[in-house]
Amino acid sequence: MSTVTTSVPEVATTAARAPSSRQAPPATLAIFGSAGDLTKRLVVPALYNLVRAGRLADGFSIIGVDISDQTDESWRNSLTEMMQAFVRAGAGAIDEQAWSWLTRRMRYLRGDFAQPETYSRLATILEERERQNNVANVLFYLAVADRFFGPVIEQLGRAGLTRQSDHAWRRVIVEKPFGHDLASAKALNAQILKVLSEDQIYRIDHFLGKETVQNILVLRFANGIFEPLWSREHIDHVQITAAETVGVEHRGRFYERTGALRDMVPNHLFQLLAMIAMEPPISFDADAVRAKKTELFHAIHSISPANSVRGQYGAGVVLGRHVADYRHEPDVAPDSKTETYVAFKLGIDNWRWAGVPFYLRTGKYLSARTTEIAVQFRQAPYALFRGTSVEHLPANILRLRIQPDEGLSLSFSAKRPGEEIEIDGVEMNFAYRDYFAPLRTVGYETLIYDCMIGDATLFQRADTVEAAWRAVQDLLDAWARAPAGDFPNYAAGSAGPEAADRLLARDGRAWLPIGAGHPHRERNE
Ligand code: BG6
Repeated sequence: MSTVTTSVPEVATTAARAPSSRQAPPATLAIFGSAGDLTKRLVVPALYNLVRAGRLADGFSIIGVDISDQTDESWRNSLTEMMQAFVRAGAGAIDEQAWSWLTRRMRYLRGDFAQPETYSRLATILEERERQNNVANVLFYLAVADRFFGPVIEQLGRAGLTRQSDHAWRRVIVEKPFGHDLASAKALNAQILKVLSEDQIYRIDHFLGKETVQNILVLRFANGIFEPLWSREHIDHVQITAAETVGVEHRGRFYERTGALRDMVPNHLFQLLAMIAMEPPISFDADAVRAKKTELFHAIHSISPANSVRGQYGAGVVLGRHVADYRHEPDVAPDSKTETYVAFKLGIDNWRWAGVPFYLRTGKYLSARTTEIAVQFRQAPYALFRGTSVEHLPANILRLRIQPDEGLSLSFSAKRPGEEIEIDGVEMNFAYRDYFAPLRTVGYETLIYDCMIGDATLFQRADTVEAAWRAVQDLLDAWARAPAGDFPNYAAGSAGPEAADRLLARDGRAWLPIGAGHPHRERNE
């Protein structure tokens, strides 16, 4: 988290339009997987936005490393086409000055990640850079399939490229997925920690690049009104939802060996869980924050299959479009047992949360796209209303809308005007767009910038990643032992399997409707 400013609405608008001009130190960014999708869709647009915000120093440059047969020119051209389409989609025009600033600094290196020669050629280019521009800092970005993480880092080490000095840092950004389970995450950590020290490794979880996720800590700890209520004394339960309206698209091969639990839970959903449930860190210092997250993951009870539901989508209609069932997606087995939906209840065994259920769910091809956290407070005592027509008191729910329609709302009870005592559920709503200028970002800007300034707060530490895998490992094992027999069990475009509703109904609770935006009103009519 690089910037923390306080503001009132009028000031906030100005602050969002005029970001601080603090520049990252000059560095070379070497992108492995530079011809791939991630580089095109996220890394390069984020760099372009950083240029526009004045965050990159003159000595910044990029070396794209990939196996595909390209030249500097053809690589730049393919990125230019992509950027033009990207900017057009946002109904804008490319900022030629910023884009040419960036493309001038791009160079392509064709190379096989498995061949030592690729690394010795990269070393030669980096030495040249150092001689010519006096820039020795290097950020290696591994935008590659996870099977390359370990081998590429080993090769970097062997070529002497990870060695730091007083005037030169060497850092590595590792993308998701970090491991496939606890054992593989441990093995990968052990492998890369032989080459790099922990403070050189930046494990990305792109959810932490989202402003609304970063805002959770501000909401909790920069306000006096929430934290005193933030515990089992006042909170009935918490729901965390990441619902998607996309299917597996062209990622069938990856998804078949991954599934919704691995793809979304120990990483993205647990980041939301950590932000909402961790103890207050003593500062924004990377280790202070990450230690609290790790402690929280260690306090999670093992998740039992009896408290979990898995689902796979059948054919259906999503946002008005007919779509096929998962088993007919490209590269998916016709009898696939892979889950595209998961919901479960978990408990956190500490003084703050013991006894408070956390219900988490995520799935592909659901009825609406929404990521949100709903904190439901305990019911007020009813006695006062016994003699009235009020049958029940609507719940107080604090709803944090992570995306889209970013903001938050608080629902509470109000007396409906009139002679009788009648109660209505009403809400207060905060929408980012009402207070802040829209940020045209892809979510990777802060992450890349933070890495360049050496701030690891928003990145995963080795023990945090392992603690998260540990919390889901029993469920992974149980599901692997007993494949689901009822797939497909939800229609694309629905709210997920019915069993997920029963999971909460058992506890006398219900999921909030997906994508309803604001708390539904309960009227006593
Ligand atoms: C990725 C998962 O990490 O996150 C995808 O692999 C998922 O399956 C995506 O769709 C969700 O991210 P976002 O930012 O679109 O909510």
